[in-house]
Amino acid sequence: MLTLLQSSQCNDGRTWNSMDGKTKTEKAILRLDDQEIELPIFTGSEGEKAIDISSLRKQSGYITLDPGYVNTGMTKSSICFIDGEEGILRYRGYPIEQLAANSNFVETSYLLIHGELPTPEQYEQFRQSLRRHSMIHEDMRHFFDGFPSSAHPMAILSAMVLGLSTFYTENENPEQDTDIDLTVCRLLSKVRTLASFSFKKSIGQPFIYPDNSLSYCGNFLHMMFRVPAEPYHVDPEVERALNLLLILHADHEQNCSTATVRMAGSALTNLYACIAAGITSLWGSRHGGANQAVLDQLATIHEGDWDVARYIELVKDKNSSVRLMGFGHRVYKNYDPRAKIIKEACDRLLDHLGVQDPLLDIARRLEEVALNDSYFVDRNLYPNVDFYSGIMYRAIGIPINMFTVMFALGRLPGWIAHWLEMRSDPDDRIHRPRQIYNGVKLRDYPV
Ligand code: CMC
Repeated sequence: MLTLLQSSQCNDGRTWNSMDGKTKTEKAILRLDDQEIELPIFTGSEGEKAIDISSLRKQSGYITLDPGYVNTGMTKSSICFIDGEEGILRYRGYPIEQLAANSNFVETSYLLIHGELPTPEQYEQFRQSLRRHSMIHEDMRHFFDGFPSSAHPMAILSAMVLGLSTFYTENENPEQDTDIDLTVCRLLSKVRTLASFSFKKSIGQPFIYPDNSLSYCGNFLHMMFRVPAEPYHVDPEVERALNLLLILHADHEQNCSTATVRMAGSALTNLYACIAAGITSLWGSRHGGANQAVLDQLATIHEGDWDVARYIELVKDKNSSVRLMGFGHRVYKNYDPRAKIIKEACDRLLDHLGVQDPLLDIARRLEEVALNDSYFVDRNLYPNVDFYSGIMYRAIGIPINMFTVMFALGRLPGWIAHWLEMRSDPDDRIHRPRQIYNGVKLRDYPV
């Protein structure tokens, strides 16, 4: 029999200090048949509790089984705090609503990576460094010729980011990379150039080189939308909207792609290669690819002239395998705070651009119907960050197959911050989950 007892005081009545990882205030007792196993409890700074099971197998021969890591904390981290029940998201302690209203993407990136908001001097230095490293090696530019024009920009982006590691070989061994700040700035700046070049490649237009007199987001818009034959002026409202979208995507603790970056990094793989791995992980439709899937779904409803209520019935039908894209979240069991901010910003941007998007009307209607339907209410399914972001990207002129690339651009500082945090963690070791084998037992090869 297996019984997990409530966390309790230590037998000897001592009060241990939980925050230094060595001493604990509480422990859990796991009863396995007649064996009692003591497991320490770790309490996070927001009162979250975890039972530290790292010694369980040694003590008992058992492992824990948790497919999809639904209940497994892979690390302690001080970068991002989420309370999914309350719909709270904070970067380094700052509420996402305050950052969205007052910060910009460069400052938020600095905050995530360095842990504190920059002083004016630090901000200027960081900004200058991002400007200085905006170009890619000319030889890399030729790599784009080798991809078919139908290639998905996420595949190109991942390949090109990995390609950066062939040009900046000093980063090959992360233990010997003495100027990691330079590597970080190169990545943040060049990924933006690679992303816009992959777009230009897909539409057959010439690449537009960066203009370092522009802001981070302004420069990206310039590389995306300028053509040599015409002038292009960055619309400050669009630039503002882009800053907002990137801030909202900048980190989200141990999501699938961040966990991938950490997993790859735990093997002492260099930062470029780890980010390339994170990009491929983000690509899937259960993760970052959902913003593309949302727009595809809205277009299907629009083009098929579907009645929204009938479409919701299809989503609820377990035989249909159709899910409402942009709804539901592993962590949020409440309205995703990012979705709230995006919804408002979406209205503002479309108003400013004078865009009437029928897909926005369908999205609003879907949300209304779903939030009043017991299927969604009972399962705590609310709109997530992807539900309205695609409509904003579309209004800016970014095509659907670039949406996930935009997500990658936004998530980059979060990935970097987690990689750096892991590298500086004294408890860092290779990530190597276990499994329970349930295959064929020993048998002889037929001879
Ligand atoms: N539409 C319809 N039913 C859903 C949906 C949905 N979007 N999401 C979850 N459910 C149902 C699911 O069928 C299950 O029902 P039941 O208990 O009857 O079997 C229940 O809700 C729990 O779902 P789950 O798949 O066990 O939940 P999960 O935590 O494993 O998955 C998710 C989370 C985000 C993958 C899922 O909600 C989903 O597929 N959503 C649509 C895709 C999407 O919008 N992804 C973006 C996530 S946010 C951005 C990011 O992380 O990149």
